[in-house]
Amino acid sequence: MPVDAESFKQALASWVSGVTIITSRHADHVHGMTVSAFSSVSLSPPLVMVCLDKVSNTLKLVEAAKVFSVNVLAQGQEELSQRFASKEHEDVRFEGLNCEQGTNGCPHIPGAVSTMDCRVLDTLDAGDHVIYIGEVRAAKFTDRPPLVYLRAVYRTLT
Ligand SMILES: Cc1cc2nc3c(=O)[nH]c(=O)nc-3n(C[C@H](O)[C@H](O)[C@H](O)COP(=O)(O)O)c2cc1C
Repeated sequence: MPVDAESFKQALASWVSGVTIITSRHADHVHGMTVSAFSSVSLSPPLVMVCLDKVSNTLKLVEAAKVFSVNVLAQGQEELSQRFASKEHEDVRFEGLNCEQGTNGCPHIPGAVSTMDCRVLDTLDAGDHVIYIGEVRAAKFTDRPPLVYLRAVYRTLT
């Protein structure tokens, strides 16, 4: 018997994570979503992974484009995290953002701690999500403090 959904969610919520916005571009279409299911995978070759909900619009774009960028959010970017998670603001997520374009054409979120431009190397079907393994082709970083997420609350490192 699998674990009940509530115990599973509560147990997962105690895992401290950062918050990313995964962006993608296919032709003139850009989109992005908030993702905490991000991890490093391999140093050589440089690989990362993200888990995207099968019903997400971002997944459709990543499927088509085979590229995505990881934007690690900084302390103070809670509003952007909420905006890129909200279905209400789905069509205006990039409004007012002066995004630079990554080496793979995907938008970079201004003020992010770091960005990684990836091309999809592999995918794994995983329940209601798909795991994307990305080969990191370019990375930029700053020393800004990152946004932290724990037990459904945004936190800051002290
Ligand atoms: C803090 C936070 C973390 C999230 N992490 C994930 C995640 O790892 N994977 C995922 O598929 N959705 C995650 N979501 C939910 C998506 O951001 C949300 O469903 C979004 O609306 C999907 O956008 P789209 O369908 O327009 O692509 C997260 C939301 C929040 C607020």
